Amino acid sequence: MGKDVIIACDFDSKQKTLDFLDKFTGRKPFVKIGMELFYAEGPAIVKEIKARGHKIFLDLKLHDIPNTVKKSMAVLSRLDVDMTNLHAGGTIRMMQGAIEGLTRPDGTRPLLIAVTQLTSTDEESMRKDLLIEKPIDEVVMHYAHNAKIAGLDGVVCSPLEAGKVHGVCGEKFLTVTPGVRFADGDVGDQKRVMTPAEAKKIGSDYIVVGRPITAAEDPVAAYERCIAEFVG
Ligand code: C5P
Repeated sequence: MGKDVIIACDFDSKQKTLDFLDKFTGRKPFVKIGMELFYAEGPAIVKEIKARGHKIFLDLKLHDIPNTVKKSMAVLSRLDVDMTNLHAGGTIRMMQGAIEGLTRPDGTRPLLIAVTQLTSTDEESMRKDLLIEKPIDEVVMHYAHNAKIAGLDGVVCSPLEAGKVHGVCGEKFLTVTPGVRFADGDVGDQKRVMTPAEAKKIGSDYIVVGRPITAAEDPVAAYERCIAEFVG
């Protein structure tokens, strides 16, 4: 599995997204489409970006009963996305249902990645709101291991956790890591960040980069810099 840079296309409309992607006349980046854009524009936006030659990570974070997730994943698989995700908190059975739904009649399927605990959830809210008493690191690694048992391909995690996830789940288990910033760039609202080069060193398989590329004066140059630092 090759390392790659995924651009988080956190735009609220088709027009803004396509205007942004129009700038990439050479290499077609792997892009992440999130809930905001998908709910605004529907499956058509996925088909359109796919038809332009981009790989797509559809970041919809499914979490429901196994049967509903299985059937919904079958729909996403037919959209021909390359990667999608769900919440590991939905249990191993839900994740197994997702794999079944995603698998096409010819045996192929998009990569399936789990969200363990959202980075917006801290230990205090886990304890108070969710009644989970264990340390957050232990919960994250346990959920990652559950994803592995269910047959998923990897997890979304901080680049700082990527090494540990590989230790627990094996080197082939993918780590998809946001929170990436250039050494000389703005950190913004991200708390724990790494440069693309550091993420590479620590073993991230994919980095998800939003504003350092989307808000750059020259997004194509920023993307190529990410590729140069992370993929080499
Ligand atoms: O603009 P920025 O590089 O911070 O964007 C990072 C992307 O990764 C956003 O789409 C954000 O929602 C997503 N993400 C994240 N932290 C997580 C999970 C996803 O920043 N823990």
